[in-house]
Amino acid sequence: MYVYNKYLHINNGDIMNKSIWIEKEVCFDEIKNNINTDILIIGGGISGTNVLYFLKDTSKKIVLVNNTNNNTTCYSTAKITYLQQDTYTKIKNIYNDEIAFKYYQSQKDAIKLITEIINKENIDCDLEKVNSTIFTNNKEEKLKKEKKFLKNHNIKFEEKNDLTISIPCYRNIEVNDTYMFNPYKYITKLKEKLNKNTNISIYDHSIVTSIKKDKDKYKVICNNKLITCNTIIMACHYPFKIEATFPFRTYLEKSIVSAFDYKLNKNISMINIDKDVISCRSYKDKLIFLTNSHNINSKEDIEKEVKKHLKKQKEMFDIPPEYTWINHDIMTNDSLPIAGRIKDTNIYILTGYNTWGMTNSTICAKLVSDLIEEKENKYQELFNPNRNTNIKRIVNDIAYSLSSGSTLLYNKLSHNKDFYRNDIKIVKEDGIIYGIYIDEEKHEHKVYNLCPHMKCNLIFNYFDKTWDCPCHGSRFDIDGNVIKGPSNLSIKIDND
Ligand code: FES
Repeated sequence: MYVYNKYLHINNGDIMNKSIWIEKEVCFDEIKNNINTDILIIGGGISGTNVLYFLKDTSKKIVLVNNTNNNTTCYSTAKITYLQQDTYTKIKNIYNDEIAFKYYQSQKDAIKLITEIINKENIDCDLEKVNSTIFTNNKEEKLKKEKKFLKNHNIKFEEKNDLTISIPCYRNIEVNDTYMFNPYKYITKLKEKLNKNTNISIYDHSIVTSIKKDKDKYKVICNNKLITCNTIIMACHYPFKIEATFPFRTYLEKSIVSAFDYKLNKNISMINIDKDVISCRSYKDKLIFLTNSHNINSKEDIEKEVKKHLKKQKEMFDIPPEYTWINHDIMTNDSLPIAGRIKDTNIYILTGYNTWGMTNSTICAKLVSDLIEEKENKYQELFNPNRNTNIKRIVNDIAYSLSSGSTLLYNKLSHNKDFYRNDIKIVKEDGIIYGIYIDEEKHEHKVYNLCPHMKCNLIFNYFDKTWDCPCHGSRFDIDGNVIKGPSNLSIKIDND
């Protein structure tokens, strides 16, 4: 038995608030000169890395700029599977069976593509074949519908009513042609190989702060250097400089993840389809355990969310977590990713993976690279960022808009005062709201409390010691530097 309370004191350093994947950050140089290039990729996670891979043999010059390798990909559970909770039922309900089946095919194609890359390029990233499971402990209805979809399309699965670990389960189904891996090893090793190509340059710690159209070129400011390019690929988690409705067609989901010692006789990869999400996978002698998935708009502060997760982890396993981290996913209102060219621009985006980032980043990267090379791709319409809408999506849009709008309003009115202890001050001076964090040495770190993206007030995240935006997930360190977009501007006061 370990002492439960020990793991609830988040600020005393007992919990390692970092992902299991990032043992040591691997970095390329930062950008130091002005550059002319054909293609600029913004973002060096799995989306940017995969699109770089698919374009590597073009005659075009390609530059990839990345803020940090400590990116969204490295917070994933990294399952490579097409058994994705009740996604097929959801897509079928919004569109039809044909579209849901096409999405299934895209996931199968993605699995083939990513395993081929790993094998062909000999990437040592702990790739393992594993059975994928979806399970339920109460609402078998959802599972029945998903089973019906699989049966109707002759997709083989096995029915069971037992999991190999101590998680309550009423029914589960399993498929056996799926995988999992270490995503950090995958992206870093693949980028190291790609950087040897003479037409490719990769830069880390390089932040894009401005994009302007100048005739048929784009002028991009990155670390105060000028990048001139013909085409931009937004492979960052939350694309910026895109059409205004994007924030209202998507929302961010936050989950808490832990990893701890847990030896199993065979590898596992599983997720439930109940309201309270539980997801598990094994990695070597550890278990990765995810719970508490909820809209980032939730008014509850992150410390409480982490405590809830740790309580559940304690109840189910009673093993102290070695790593605990927070994962953000972009969800779309029709459960399909968004990938393709933004209308009337030479800017491409790929995002909205609905928690299935390993497969969707791969298939979307293939699509974007095919579009740039003017090749046919059968998923162009399925993932089209400007795809046709229907009444069910419009209803979803309104729900998301109300949710985002209410968060914005709540933030404006409350300034989040309730969330804070004595080490945080929210002050208003000359009509401007500032956030002040007082560190252990009593030094004050004062920043603007307004997110540069769409002007939401920021919430202090005690778990990571960051200022987080509850609207679309931008994050800033205690000194105001941007850690994660969509904001590409800092909240530092000396910016003026
Ligand atoms: Fe959009 Fe902050 S307002 S990320």
